[in-house]
Amino acid sequence: MAVEITEEFVWQNIPRRARDSHKGTFGTVLAVAGSAYYRGAALLAAEGALRTGAGIVTLASVEPVLAAAVARTPECCLCPCIAGAEGGISPESIPRIQRQKATVLLLGPGLGGAAQSAARAAETRALVQTLLPAFAGSAVLDADGLNAAAQLLAAGEAFPHPAGELIVTPHPGEMARLTGLSAAQINADREETARTYAQKWNAVVVLKGSRTVVAAPDGRACVNPTGNPGLARGGSGDVLSGMTAALLACGLPAFEAAACAVYLHGAAADRTAAVLGEYGMLPHDILPQLGRIFA
Ligand code: APR
Ligand code: MG
Repeated sequence: MAVEITEEFVWQNIPRRARDSHKGTFGTVLAVAGSAYYRGAALLAAEGALRTGAGIVTLASVEPVLAAAVARTPECCLCPCIAGAEGGISPESIPRIQRQKATVLLLGPGLGGAAQSAARAAETRALVQTLLPAFAGSAVLDADGLNAAAQLLAAGEAFPHPAGELIVTPHPGEMARLTGLSAAQINADREETARTYAQKWNAVVVLKGSRTVVAAPDGRACVNPTGNPGLARGGSGDVLSGMTAALLACGLPAFEAAACAVYLHGAAADRTAAVLGEYGMLPHDILPQLGRIFA
């Protein structure tokens, strides 16, 4: 049985911001996210990262997403990307300098893919294949980035991995596409599934849902006790992937970053539910509650 993540664990692992720290101390997250189809996911991920302490968050996306992002969160740096033929982000339009400056790559929220068309899925696959293996730091792969990885695995290719650590954040449906198991098989033993694939892929696996499991390639695993069904709506996962990327950027190792992020995401959601209820709360409402927890 994996241990539950505790509040003590979280505050032991998240360091105080030293008096003489500067933005460089807390890393640069390059979030490659969003498309004309899903404009909000990138905003939720970028704000999730900013509100969880990242020094700089640069959002690489297509113009309609960037226009919305800067209007909502002026702190976000922008990397304007050219759209490919199918409307996705063209990898060539993310300059090498942006990739080199980033300490953490967040890849996936709102990119779109097979839900739009086979051609869109091919564009997202090309983005993952180009950016992830070439990245020098650590990375978080989420949402359509995971669906792209599933297609690569199905074609007999290796799981794409950056030079640093990799965190993958599948919900059971995404995990099913990645593994070929059914969601029912996955949920029958969530801990064992997460552990097995963490080793296989050399990645920290965050298997989401009620009682999210976090498993590391070295065999460590933990279960998250926080969160509630108010999180069961589109957008909650995007906030989490941004938060996870930020804790990596702040210097936490991947297992600790993922475990602290899921705990704080759920804890902020529990405070949100106390104010707005599980029916009324929205993913972006979590962010101010997160600030109250940090305060
Ligand atoms: N209890 C606790 N936490 C929950 C619960 C619950 N009952 N239900 C959901 N959550 C949490 C999950 O653990 C996860 O952190 O909410 C988040 C949901 O994340 P996703 O399933 O990835 O949803 P999201 O990404 O926001 O949905 C938007 O992206 O992944 C695709 O197919 C997905 O179309 C959807 C879109
Ligand atoms: Mg998701």
